[in-house]
Amino acid sequence: MFKGPLTESILPRAQKNGLVHFDFLNLRDFGLGSRKKVDDTPYGGGAGMVLRVDVMAEAIAAAKSKIKNQKSKVILLTPQGKVFNHSKAVELSQKYEALILVCGHYEGFDERIRNLVDEEISIGEYVLTGGEIPAMVLIDSISRLLPGVLGTTESLNAESFTDGQLLEYPQYTRPDDYDNLTVPEILKSGNHAEIETWRKAQSIAKSQIYKKRN
Ligand code: ADE
Repeated sequence: MFKGPLTESILPRAQKNGLVHFDFLNLRDFGLGSRKKVDDTPYGGGAGMVLRVDVMAEAIAAAKSKIKNQKSKVILLTPQGKVFNHSKAVELSQKYEALILVCGHYEGFDERIRNLVDEEISIGEYVLTGGEIPAMVLIDSISRLLPGVLGTTESLNAESFTDGQLLEYPQYTRPDDYDNLTVPEILKSGNHAEIETWRKAQSIAKSQIYKKRN
């Protein structure tokens, strides 16, 4: 599941340049018996299988042994968690040297797995089939904040939510006129001070619209 996002575009380049390192553990490798069982039927009955706490504990211990003494945090991706946002991404990118992301599964996990982690994070108020896509959301949004991962520092500074929670100003490129939708004259004026002022005002206006919507 992680291959696409981590083998295309910015993230693999960052890993190649030694700016970030991704590693994956397959829960199945910690499974029990010859069938490498990772789940079992729920106590009290009911449909579906439940991820075992002992198997998950082994996997987390193995992940911890890989990161040695780095300052780290174990995060469980679950819809019950605190909803992720930009300031959380900043905190996780700055405070820790390593993050262990634990993915749940749609049929459920043993409640005691919650005792194995430091924090629970949700990526929004909806339920997905597993924690893998949420883990990718964290990986992407946190990695891009690490120094050197994006091309230029400007692309971070001018950007959505970083400038005191302002959204990015609108951008345009050629063609000049697309179906009567034209590029604002100011952007073609060459007056950099005025362009700067216009962009700031646009950012504020966009941010106000966003706040009203949400
Ligand atoms: N697992 C399933 N749904 C999720 C969500 N919204 N956030 C994090 N993990 C999840």
